Amino acid sequence: MKKNILITGGAGFIGSHVVRLFVNKYPEYTIVNLDKLTYAGNLENLKDIDKKPNYIFEKADICDSKAIDELFDKYQFSGVIHLAAESHVDRSISDPMAFINTNIIGTVNLLNAARKTWLTTNNEQRTTNNLFYHISTDEVYGSLSEEGMFVEETSYDPRSPYSASKASSDHLVRAYHHTYKMPVVISNCSNNYGPNQFPEKLIPLAINNIKNNKAVPVYGKGENIRDWLFVEDHANAIDLIFHNGIVGETYNIGGNNEWKNIDLIYQLCKEMDLQLGREKGTSEKLITFVKDRAGHDLRYAIDSSKIQKELGWKPSLQFEEGLRKTVEWYLKNDVWLTNIVSGDYEKYYDKQYVKR
Ligand code: NAD
Ligand code: DAU
Repeated sequence: MKKNILITGGAGFIGSHVVRLFVNKYPEYTIVNLDKLTYAGNLENLKDIDKKPNYIFEKADICDSKAIDELFDKYQFSGVIHLAAESHVDRSISDPMAFINTNIIGTVNLLNAARKTWLTTNNEQRTTNNLFYHISTDEVYGSLSEEGMFVEETSYDPRSPYSASKASSDHLVRAYHHTYKMPVVISNCSNNYGPNQFPEKLIPLAINNIKNNKAVPVYGKGENIRDWLFVEDHANAIDLIFHNGIVGETYNIGGNNEWKNIDLIYQLCKEMDLQLGREKGTSEKLITFVKDRAGHDLRYAIDSSKIQKELGWKPSLQFEEGLRKTVEWYLKNDVWLTNIVSGDYEKYYDKQYVKR
């Protein structure tokens, strides 16, 4: 029997890569992409697969419990991969409520709908094939100093409204597992980069600014450290966990690829000079140190040996190659980028896809 799989946030950066992978790799599934199309949702990300017979788009807000219940009734989903979220730390500092609503309340609405559909009144599973897979972040573990790495057992210590809202949703997902026997799995991943990332995040923002000869803002002294993973490697990990992960377990995902922000920007500047045919050292002149992010976490580093050992996953791309591919993609997809910067990508939905 054909399975209906719900992917939330599929018009966003990581979600679009997951939707594409599942639509192409699993013709036996119908993939329903549920997305509210906030500023971060862009259906242009999926235009190569949106005519496929096993793909359906549903515009809905996960904060609207009635709409979510109706979609569960309509499709009787057997699996959920939940990516929809407010995802940008800086926005969470200026507007925390959107993060509380979507990341916490929205997640509980999905859990409740899945519970009504999958569990009997005694909390027994109606079929053993159901899975609620919650996608989370390494930021829930807090901030590291120079030493150490996050493991699955690291205590939660979220420090921004974004990470606190994601930590809260992780706790709720686990609470539904323990209380109601909801079949769940969670993964916590480090910083993703690659095609289709909204140009508010460090790498696409810097690419766009360098291209347009604008200042590249580096917070503080640029000494904060992040672990970077190519987005398609994350999508492959999600595929493996969805199919082979153990119910109730947590998996850390990371690139084993730590970079100080300033060193990453230097590397990116070199790549931009090369690909734009500019004289060596041209892009570096755009680096501008600016006021630090409030409560800026110093370092994230994630130990992904569990998923490597238990599920046989590993990152496929070296950072230099991933960065080269990413820069190539942004320079080639100039229209995608300029449509976002101008806001025209939102008009595109009216014309092409969404009947409002
Ligand atoms: P994104 O901001 O690019 O995309 C989020 C998507 O969710 C958008 O399409 C948006 O329209 C949709 N959305 C937002 N609010 C919604 C709502 N109320 N109802 C329905 N849809 C809504 O985010 P991303 O970077 O692709 O991140 C996806 C998930 O992965 C998030 O849960 C994030 O916390 C997690 N994550 C991201 C990273 C990263 O580096 N980007 C790393 C680890 C984990
Ligand atoms: O670790 C996983 C997380 O990575 C995800 O959960 C988040 O959704 C995702 O946005 C990302 O969070 P960060 O805050 O690490 O990503 P961002 O690209 O915003 O910033 C990366 C680093 O660069 C961080 O130390 C802040 C810094 N920075 C960022 C921007 C936007 C700058 O120095 N200048 C900038 O203009």
